[in-house]
Amino acid sequence: MDSYIILNFKTYEESTGENAIKLAKICDEVANETGTRIIVIPQPCDIYAISQGVGIPVYAQHIDNIKVGSNTGHILPESVNASGAVGSLINHSEMRLKLADIEANIKKLRELGMTSIVCTNNVEVTKAAAALGPDFVAIEPPELIGSGISVSKAQPEIISGSVDAVKSVNPNVKVLCGAGISTGEDVKKAIELGTCGVLLASGVVKAKDPKAVLLDLVKGLG
Ligand code: G3P
Repeated sequence: MDSYIILNFKTYEESTGENAIKLAKICDEVANETGTRIIVIPQPCDIYAISQGVGIPVYAQHIDNIKVGSNTGHILPESVNASGAVGSLINHSEMRLKLADIEANIKKLRELGMTSIVCTNNVEVTKAAAALGPDFVAIEPPELIGSGISVSKAQPEIISGSVDAVKSVNPNVKVLCGAGISTGEDVKKAIELGTCGVLLASGVVKAKDPKAVLLDLVKGLG
């Protein structure tokens, strides 16, 4: 099974504008040096510059369920795609959506040839999300996000429960986990629990030496 390190840049100062480009280049370097699948998820304004500057896949943090035309202040799926994004998060804990919008966004991404990652907060929601047939679900207990306490160590049962639930609903959907991940050990545990990798942010973005942290995370993929 392919495994992934997926880095959500969120809206940290360390991952905005010029800093976002620098961080994406570090991810690109580590991906090339180690042969690992690393995906970066910057803010929408940074997608174009990053996708021009790196070879690794760039995803969007969010898309709105809108059509091309008369809308203001929204994120048009076609726009992130034209800027170079090849996938998107949907329903991140910091950008929750209605069920109908989650379903429409998965469809829209598929139409555009883009990858979908639906974020979930518990086993039941993971099961419901898998039934909609996204490419990935990412289980992230909200209380552990940004905490430095790894979900794979603190709540292993939510990960194995999600993996089992997804298998029973739609085995084609890949499972990621996230929240508090910051070391190779955390990644190793996530893989042992049946996921295909991790979705993380602060552990790398806020690190003094993001490259060193990324190299350590990669070791956990085995
Ligand atoms: O999308 C990743 C995320 O919500 C986890 O954040 O900072 O706990 O790695 P963090």
